[in-house]
Amino acid sequence: VPDHQKTLEQLKSEWEDCEKCELGVRRKQEGGAFVFGEGQPGGIMFIGEGPGRVEEEFGRPFIGDSGDLLRNAVMKLGLSHYYITNIVSCRSCSQAYDSEGQPRFRKNKRTGLNVPIIKDEPPSPLFIAACLPRLYEEVYLVDPVLIVALGGEAAKTLSTERMGGITAERGNTRPMDIPGVFHTAKLTPKKRVWRRKQKGEYVTPTEENRVSYLMLPTFHPAYVLRRFADRSPGNPLEMYLKDMKLAAEIYDRYMLEAFGTHPAERNLSYEDVMEDSNATV
Ligand code: URA
Repeated sequence: VPDHQKTLEQLKSEWEDCEKCELGVRRKQEGGAFVFGEGQPGGIMFIGEGPGRVEEEFGRPFIGDSGDLLRNAVMKLGLSHYYITNIVSCRSCSQAYDSEGQPRFRKNKRTGLNVPIIKDEPPSPLFIAACLPRLYEEVYLVDPVLIVALGGEAAKTLSTERMGGITAERGNTRPMDIPGVFHTAKLTPKKRVWRRKQKGEYVTPTEENRVSYLMLPTFHPAYVLRRFADRSPGNPLEMYLKDMKLAAEIYDRYMLEAFGTHPAERNLSYEDVMEDSNATV
């Protein structure tokens, strides 16, 4: 099946046994889940860094604490047309060691057994590179109006242009190009012809078609949670909520221009998010 006719389910089944990098090998050894995206294509696409412990256990993106903050904001904004995925589909983590180089353990409250402490870590460029073809195809099939990159790592990976730090770059849309499925015939640079002779055979040079999307970088919800108590002007939660609102506005503008759909009333304030939050401020 040519990939422009592929479905997201097919893409998932092509990748769910992947062992292209160490993350996949570890996932298989530990019996963890491959975490593919979920949601509705064609709306806002949220892209995080990679699954954590809870996501790996249940095989769904953003269902732990960071997921609560993301899904809460999306719900309070009244968005139903969205899709959530990650840069890498397998959990990136390693065993924690103490200063003497000994493995660290914690006591499981339920069983009383000592279990190794595993800490999440950002996926290395090698792991990201191995997963990028899956991500690009997922973006192509979801074909979103807007991509929201959650955190600096996701934004840097997705941005076509060079990016500075997330604090400076968040809140500003930028282009993101991905490879398309078609190839476009290219004029040869010297003679300006479509075909040229190569080793006695005629060849038609082509170039890969690129598809351009709009990307909005914002803070990762996990970072926002770590700074949840911060109430200084321009604090991470305030900026994160502002970016979420902007994403909804961009989506609404597109729906109005393309389909004449009038936007719903969308409110998102501290109070909205705090209402459901257990976090102490
Ligand atoms: N953090 C991420 O970046 N992705 C998830 O799916 C969960 C937490």
